[in-house]
Amino acid sequence: TSNHLRHVESMSTLPSGAGQIPKLNALILGEALASEEDDLIVPSQDFSAQAHIPSPHKYLEMYKRSIEDPAGFWSDIASQFYWKQKWGQPVYSENLDIRKGRIHIEWFKGGITNICYNCLDKNIAAGNGEKIAIYWEGNDPGVDASLTYNQLLQRVCQLANYLKDIGIRKGDAVLIYLPMLMELPIAMLACARIGAVHSVVFAGFSSESLAQRIMDCKPKVLITCNAVRRGPKTIHLKDIVDTALAESAQSGTVVDVCLTYENDTALKKESTKWVEGRDTWWQDVVPKYPDTCDVEWVDAEDPLFLLYTSGSTGKPKGVLHTTGGYMVYTATTFKYAFDYKPSDIYWCTADCGWITGHSYVTYGPLLNGATVVVFEGAPNYPDPGRSWDIVDKYKVSIFYTAPTLVRSLMREGDEHVTRFSRKSLRVLGSVGEPINPSAWRWFFNLVGESRCPISDTWWQTETGGFMITPLPGAWPQKPGSATFPFFGIQPVIVDEKGVEIEGECSGYLCVKSSWPGAFRTLYGDHERYETTYFSAFPGYYFSGDGCSRDKDGYHWLTGRVDDVINVSGHRIGTAEVESALVSHHQCAEAAVVGVEHEVKGQSIYAFVTLVEGVPYSDDLRKSLIMTVRKQIGAFAAPDKIHWAPSLPKTRSGKIMRRVLRKIASRQLDELGDISTLADPGVVDQLIALADG
Ligand code: PRX
Repeated sequence: TSNHLRHVESMSTLPSGAGQIPKLNALILGEALASEEDDLIVPSQDFSAQAHIPSPHKYLEMYKRSIEDPAGFWSDIASQFYWKQKWGQPVYSENLDIRKGRIHIEWFKGGITNICYNCLDKNIAAGNGEKIAIYWEGNDPGVDASLTYNQLLQRVCQLANYLKDIGIRKGDAVLIYLPMLMELPIAMLACARIGAVHSVVFAGFSSESLAQRIMDCKPKVLITCNAVRRGPKTIHLKDIVDTALAESAQSGTVVDVCLTYENDTALKKESTKWVEGRDTWWQDVVPKYPDTCDVEWVDAEDPLFLLYTSGSTGKPKGVLHTTGGYMVYTATTFKYAFDYKPSDIYWCTADCGWITGHSYVTYGPLLNGATVVVFEGAPNYPDPGRSWDIVDKYKVSIFYTAPTLVRSLMREGDEHVTRFSRKSLRVLGSVGEPINPSAWRWFFNLVGESRCPISDTWWQTETGGFMITPLPGAWPQKPGSATFPFFGIQPVIVDEKGVEIEGECSGYLCVKSSWPGAFRTLYGDHERYETTYFSAFPGYYFSGDGCSRDKDGYHWLTGRVDDVINVSGHRIGTAEVESALVSHHQCAEAAVVGVEHEVKGQSIYAFVTLVEGVPYSDDLRKSLIMTVRKQIGAFAAPDKIHWAPSLPKTRSGKIMRRVLRKIASRQLDELGDISTLADPGVVDQLIALADG
């Protein structure tokens, strides 16, 4: 059994209820640590008493079973869903050890189900048809809408019927490029209903990124809208789509249909550019279809969706999730990590273009029959109080967001928070990057008035759902720590050689054995799946993150250890930004690193070498940044361009990124050994140009 299990076993000998008494917590969890950052925040007795998991002991009991008998543990949970036909035996099969052959993970194989049916029809059958499924809040205050479970099902069925009518069948890819309109979850669910595989592309991606994804997954139809307002800006999405479709068509990938929703608060039909024969207005066709639609029953291991994410090479990876395990896992993690109850109103600020919006705006909450707030706009528009205005308006009880938002609101001043009531809040959540203790405390003390536990959920696009997360009310929190693993998850920390390290330590975060929500492959590239995730430390799934474990067994995520940067919770590969930069005709070479940023967590810092004879200028700087915005999207634009007449390279020609990181963060006395550089003089030259 895992290290973690041994640790929690030692906890379990203490009397139940002990978790609520500060003095005993110190005993259960080892000594309370002296430094401010490590203070234990103990859940109130009232909260714990009503929680699904009220104590470490309850957790331990379930956790132990989940590790000792995964098949039994997950089968019991899976039985609460609707299956047209029960899964076969074994309940799961896996090989995570590259030395033993091909990597494979399967859960509930042979089970026949449908995730859309479980989200909608099943909840309606249970009497929740008139419950609100989605509250939609528009970009501008006062613009809103809502859908009950019954209405949501009708809208999903109409779109599903339309898609079937234009020839979309089980297994076909459908690309969705939509902002946070209700039509985005509707489109995802409609695909799931008919067994089509959705591939949602975040609507902040540029036409070139979109084209790249179109060419990879070759959808028959693309679903978009004409425009969206975000804050004070109007973004013409359809123009971006037109460019992307033209580009992919040129390279041989022709998309037959572009279904376009008229988002008339942003742009009228008449002002939208149109390609006859290819483009269709959603409102002209979809409402004409019947509002019931039989579901396509699929195998648990049939694909549900593809979602592209960044890795350490230039080409985005199409992470593939299947149906049954993902369904069971997202629903269960949602329920426990947010202590979800049917009376909750839940708001997650993530966009459905990222995994958080898949698992915890759409599937996880709807599988639980929850009421979800979907917000189109920016959380600081028209002013920094908007988030709390929305919380009060809908009586949000569970609020899930990213540290970058917490930090940016923190800077605006407490009065933007305190002028709202926020008394509906009972659980807070954080995701996307480590949350620094000071932001954690502000979120906890001010926003949640010290009454709401914070679920700092560590997970990834690849993991499908939460991996390491507090369970509210179950144990004391430490600001900045994701605490303990979810049921069924065995995190291990390994050293460079891949040897598990015990006790208090830090190293590379890996996971031993599979869990139902794990991704099954990278679309069209199983080999890359194996080499990226299962080769560095044979026998384990390697997350790409660093992690330390303290003497109390709490986990502290320390950030990516590969060439991936995390900007405002967005994962960006340095190689992607570099390849965008060098596509500029005046840029010869580029090296991109992440530097610490007060609000964004990290920001992008790019060193560029220009083509011989080209002088560096402010115009060129702007044009380089524009190139990245055009190729990837505005969110990937470098904050700093640093002109580098040459880059520090070893004699074998390898760029020494370690040195670049130090120069970028101005830690000039920590450059380390630079004697192996082909030309150590380069370093002084770069430093001299640093603030130019
Ligand atoms: O570095 C970790 C960070 O985000 C990465 C995953 O990014 P992505 O696949 O885009 O998914 C983001 C939403 C799940 C991880 O490798 N990360 C995510 N959550 C946390 C985190 N780092 C620290 N603490 C977290 N709670």
